Amino acid sequence: MLSIGHRGAAGYAPENTIAAVEQGIRLGAQWVEVDVYCVEGELIVFHDDRLERTTNGTGLVMEQSFEYLRSLDAGDGQQIPTLQEVFDTIAQFRSLIGINIELKGSNTAEPVAAFLQHQSVEHALSLPKLLQRNLLAVSSFEHSQLQQLHQLNPAIPLGALFWGLPPEGPGNAIAIAQALSAQSINLRHDTVTAAIISAAHGAGLKVWAYTVNDPQDLSRMRSLGVDGVFTDYPGRVSGHVSS
Ligand code: G3P
Ligand code: MG
Repeated sequence: MLSIGHRGAAGYAPENTIAAVEQGIRLGAQWVEVDVYCVEGELIVFHDDRLERTTNGTGLVMEQSFEYLRSLDAGDGQQIPTLQEVFDTIAQFRSLIGINIELKGSNTAEPVAAFLQHQSVEHALSLPKLLQRNLLAVSSFEHSQLQQLHQLNPAIPLGALFWGLPPEGPGNAIAIAQALSAQSINLRHDTVTAAIISAAHGAGLKVWAYTVNDPQDLSRMRSLGVDGVFTDYPGRVSGHVSS
C-alpha cells in the first residue's frame, strides 16, 4: 500500500509547506500530495480557498496578488511554496518519490500541463522521468479540469477524486473515472468497501483513499487491498514512526 503524504505531511509540519514535504519524505512517504492553485499565472501550493485558517493573511486566495501570498506566514515561518519549489525539494532526495498534484480552482489544468511540459529534462522530476518511473498523478474533484488536462497531454496519469460516492452508486464512480481515462479512483476512506475495490480493480483502476490517519483505519484500508493512502502521518504506514 503506497504511503502518500497528504498536503506534504500535514501531521508533522504546517500543511502544504516545504517543511511538510521534507518531513513527510524523511519519515517514509513514497509519494507526496500537494494542492495547487494558479494565481497571476503562478502555481502555488495551498489547500483552502481562503487564507485565514493556515496563514496570517485574509481573504480569498484567488483574489490576492502572487506577491502578497508569498509575503504570508503559512505556519512556523514557512512561505506558501510554488509548485516549482516542491519539485526542487523532492529532487534533493536520493530516493524516487512520487508527486500527486491536486488541481484546485477551475483554471489549473492548462498551467499545470505547461509546467510539467516545460520542466527541464535535466531535472530529476522532468516529465519523461516521472512518466517512465510511474511517479506522477494529477487529481481533482473538478473532473472538467481532468478532462482538459487529458486533452492537453493524454500521457499524464489522472486520479478522479470523489467526495462521496455518486448517488447512482459505486459503479458510476468507475464509469466516470473510465470516461476521464483516469488510472485511479480516489475515495474518502469511509466510503471504501470490498465491493468497490473489487469493481475498480476489475476495471483496471487503482483505489487511493484519503485521508487515512487513524491506525485502525489504516489497517482496514490495508486489509481491503487499497492501493494507496493519503495520510498526514506517512510514518504510520511506512513503520518509520508510530506518531
Ligand atoms: O487527494 C486527497 C485529498 O487531498 C483530497 O482532499 O480536501 O485534502 O484536498 P483535500
Ligand atoms: Mg488535496
